[in-house]
Amino acid sequence: MHHDSTVIHLRAGGTSVIVDLHDDGVPEILHWGADQGDLSPHELSDIARATRAQRVSGGLDRPARLTVLPQESTGWQGTPGLTGSRSGQVFSPALRATEVVHTPSSLSFDAVDETARLRVHGTLALDPAGVLSHSLTVTNTGDDDYDLVDLCVTLPLPAGATEILDTTGRHLRERSPQRHAFTLGRHQRDSRKGRPGADATLLLFVGTPGFGFERGLVHAVHLAFSGNQRVAAEKLVTGPAFLQAGELLAAGEIRLAPGASYSTPTVIASWGDGLTELSARIHTRLRARRVHPRSPRPVTLNTWEAVYFDHDLGRLTALAEAAARVGVERYVLDDGWFHGRRDDTAGLGDWRVDADVWPDGLSPLIDTVTGLGMQFGLWVEPEMVNPDSDLARAHPDWLLQAAGRLPVEGRQQQVLDLSHPDAYAYILEALDALLVEYPIGYLKWDHNRDLVDAGSTRTGTAAVHNNVVALYALLDELKARHPGLEIESCASGGARVDLGILDHTDRIWTSDCIDPIERLTIQKYTGLLVPYELMGAHISGPESHSTGRRHDLSMRAGVALFGHLGIEWDIAALSTTDEAELTGWIDLYKANRSLFHTGTSVHVDHPDPAVDIRGVVATDQGSAVFVFSQVATSAAYPVGPLRFPGLAADTRYRVSLVNREFTGIGNGQSPLDWAEQPVTLTGKYLATIGLQGPVLFPEHLAVFSITSV
Ligand code: GLA
Repeated sequence: MHHDSTVIHLRAGGTSVIVDLHDDGVPEILHWGADQGDLSPHELSDIARATRAQRVSGGLDRPARLTVLPQESTGWQGTPGLTGSRSGQVFSPALRATEVVHTPSSLSFDAVDETARLRVHGTLALDPAGVLSHSLTVTNTGDDDYDLVDLCVTLPLPAGATEILDTTGRHLRERSPQRHAFTLGRHQRDSRKGRPGADATLLLFVGTPGFGFERGLVHAVHLAFSGNQRVAAEKLVTGPAFLQAGELLAAGEIRLAPGASYSTPTVIASWGDGLTELSARIHTRLRARRVHPRSPRPVTLNTWEAVYFDHDLGRLTALAEAAARVGVERYVLDDGWFHGRRDDTAGLGDWRVDADVWPDGLSPLIDTVTGLGMQFGLWVEPEMVNPDSDLARAHPDWLLQAAGRLPVEGRQQQVLDLSHPDAYAYILEALDALLVEYPIGYLKWDHNRDLVDAGSTRTGTAAVHNNVVALYALLDELKARHPGLEIESCASGGARVDLGILDHTDRIWTSDCIDPIERLTIQKYTGLLVPYELMGAHISGPESHSTGRRHDLSMRAGVALFGHLGIEWDIAALSTTDEAELTGWIDLYKANRSLFHTGTSVHVDHPDPAVDIRGVVATDQGSAVFVFSQVATSAAYPVGPLRFPGLAADTRYRVSLVNREFTGIGNGQSPLDWAEQPVTLTGKYLATIGLQGPVLFPEHLAVFSITSV
């Protein structure tokens, strides 16, 4: 630990963060990005001087600096880092750092305002992958309440960052990318749905014009939190450009009593020369977590699109038998098994097996599933209540609401107030009882409505924050009571995808849309944050239930291949040929999942939007698997060479086609020369020049295996 240096250089994972402690001592980040090498104290102080801007006409006499806690009291005129008051008093804090301590890769500080009676503690840490994590805690040191309006994390952007990438979306189409110019002013994305939402941007990216996956300097932040939140990029006329992220608090939601504290969720910040490098840092960070799933991700069969609410033991048993035949390892019984749940209008909250549909309980099915060597998983939606349920009738005060008024319903349901101790205890015990009674290894934990008017009847105040805290505790408690239990975070598909929930669960359900064409985009942009092993990717039936489009099995399976693979299709009556083909894809997944789930995810910036090339390269660069999808027809015919980036430049690789039976070649083509007799090319050649791929019909794909020789 070092104290008192004025300019501090943090380094790790190819990243430098240079911090100036000046004036009020609150850290100002002068540089966050590429490693700057060893710098002497003299060089560091020159960097600080070189960064200082002149005073200009018409402005304040002392140009405000962009610190990690920008304050109006320093002359800052952009969005401040901390906003709140004591009934209107102390509206503008003037916090000064009292202590800064640091290691070679981390720094923490305390800043105090004796008049406002506030203390802020901040931590900044670079991990070995070069990801910066940052959080702030504010403590009320006064003797009356402090109403917190906003506490957010602020990180600087380089001057060349002029383009924003974020994602929006909706049910069945999460993570739609959009790009904008980063101009003077503020681009802000709010989530006000009690969950990040289908439209959430998982990361907010700002970079050099046209930055892509393969190149272009780009920085991004993510808030590791599952409730209301805000991320923004702002640029001031005076020069500073920055990212901000924090929880979006409702009026009065956080009132700090004397001595009480509030901490921001952790902000995860990464950068790269291209999105692939930026996201690889995040994936490496996640893979180093103690809680990261490391066992082979089991091939899953989920019953939802196969049977929906038709819970018939005979039908579900036949499905289990077919699943076992094709190599499924986990069988998940979806919605429809609990009391009164014959459709989606009733039952949520009554978490006991429906005696009419399941007269002998779930054991007859579970025994079949486990007897066939598969793990059994069960769907639950614990935070939700149908008004038509015993629970809602018995405890109307357990429902989130505002001013005695129930919120507008979503999917005929309301939301349980998990911050109510009795409601929390009821759900914990109901789920625990199921896990005690049955050998359930996996819960698909759903959350199927946006929250509005989400207040607690106990306090009369907004309760999203407290519900997220309670949810995390509940997930942890169940996992503690049932070691080995895995939990999936689902929320109408991918409406709750964040690194907060992923610290308490084992994968996310990426989208209710399994149409492979839609999934190409959804998975590409989800994958910027979430590595493949945490991303549920299922093979649907031939006709997509959400788009009505039809695809060959190769297209459906090839797009799902890299993720945590599953099946969402009634496979009980497949022909022998289809069953064999499906088994082949599952075998391919099993043979390569250790590569897919530890390797580096790469995407090609191909000029033709009809061409999608993506792959996973082993961390030792000894092998890779790539998938080329012909998304639509191309103007060019054939589409030209396919490049495969991410391999070792000087290593020689043999490329082979995996699905040699790839369908879709039209009439009139000659055989692909190298497919008949494999070629050996260097990593550099494959990355920069590439080779001709097979001519494919639109909405078909080819899989390539690449191995060093
Ligand atoms: C949500 C999920 C689906 C399915 C249904 C069940 O929509 O995203 O996968 O579980 O609920 O009602």
